[in-house]
Amino acid sequence: MEQIILNNYNNYKSLTEFFRTKNISKILVVCDSAFRFLGNIRLYIENLFVNLNIETVFFSDFQPNPNYESVVNGIASYKNNQCDSILAIGGGSAIDVAKCIKLYVNLPDNCDYLQQTIIPNDIPFIAIPTTAGTGSEATRYAVIYKNGEKQSITDESIIPSAVIFDETVLETLPDYQRKSTMLDAFCHAIESFWSVNSTDESKEFSKKAISLILENYEAYLNNNPSANRKMLEAANAAGKAINITQTTGGHAMCYKLTSLYNIAHGHAAALCVSVLWSYMIENTDRCCDSRGKEYLDKMFEDLSTVLGGCDSKSGADTFNRILMGLQLNIPVVNSDDDYAVLAKSVNPVRLKNNPIKLDEQTIENLYRQILRR
Ligand SMILES: [Fe+2]
Repeated sequence: MEQIILNNYNNYKSLTEFFRTKNISKILVVCDSAFRFLGNIRLYIENLFVNLNIETVFFSDFQPNPNYESVVNGIASYKNNQCDSILAIGGGSAIDVAKCIKLYVNLPDNCDYLQQTIIPNDIPFIAIPTTAGTGSEATRYAVIYKNGEKQSITDESIIPSAVIFDETVLETLPDYQRKSTMLDAFCHAIESFWSVNSTDESKEFSKKAISLILENYEAYLNNNPSANRKMLEAANAAGKAINITQTTGGHAMCYKLTSLYNIAHGHAAALCVSVLWSYMIENTDRCCDSRGKEYLDKMFEDLSTVLGGCDSKSGADTFNRILMGLQLNIPVVNSDDDYAVLAKSVNPVRLKNNPIKLDEQTIENLYRQILRR
């Protein structure tokens, strides 16, 4: 089912229409701690009962990297309050929790939801992303943790039925988050383009995201409202691209960087994509995309063209120039042991989507290029 895109014009008129057509009377609002800093949309939601006779039940009992128990509590809240719809407002964690509540709410609650067969439901599910980065509102993926173990959940039916692009939510975004979330979306679009799973459709989403980022990033960094809106659209398009292809080596390599050096996900992903891109252009003879080396060489040229370049190297140069311009810190290596720890941490499943074969030694060398000594 095509995702409906709503906007914030005329005090969220299109959202009001959506509620009316779906006969919504009680919403579970899944929101994170940033909700209280929001302006227009917070007022709209807080006044839903007064203005539209729609009740709201707030659920915020979850942390970043949400755990299974939070999802179970959210499902209980939905059922106990007899809600008929879900609205997620926040970053990736809020949207992921809401996705899992939607996915499991109609299943028997006497055994582990993760072990049960999914029965898709048509509960109206609206997402309002408050960062322009993860694209979680556009994907069939959610990540939660159970007993400390990461659980990757995938199901078509968790894609929100409607998304609202509301640029006002980005007004108060802190500078580092603003930069790193944009880089996350940028990496999604680039990695999707070179993924072995890419299709004509996924490449169109990638192109749209990359073009929107290039055209708007400077104004977005200056908190320009129209550029903020375009960046939300870019993150959504990049999300739609990875919904088809999944991410690749850049994301496979970035996770341990975030935990070891306490840097943001998008920041870490961009550092990885930067070195990976240059390496891959020089090593297309190590191609593992079934479409072959010739395809890969042409693909890297096409990707450069999307970034306004004329040969395969210039796309990577443009990306690096933008990344350097953001003046983010380069993590300093703690000890030589870090390189091996990092190289061993890389998720082999994601590496399978990478168009160039990466062995452990190569990955270690790439980390050596990323980190400062
Ligand atoms: Fe990401």
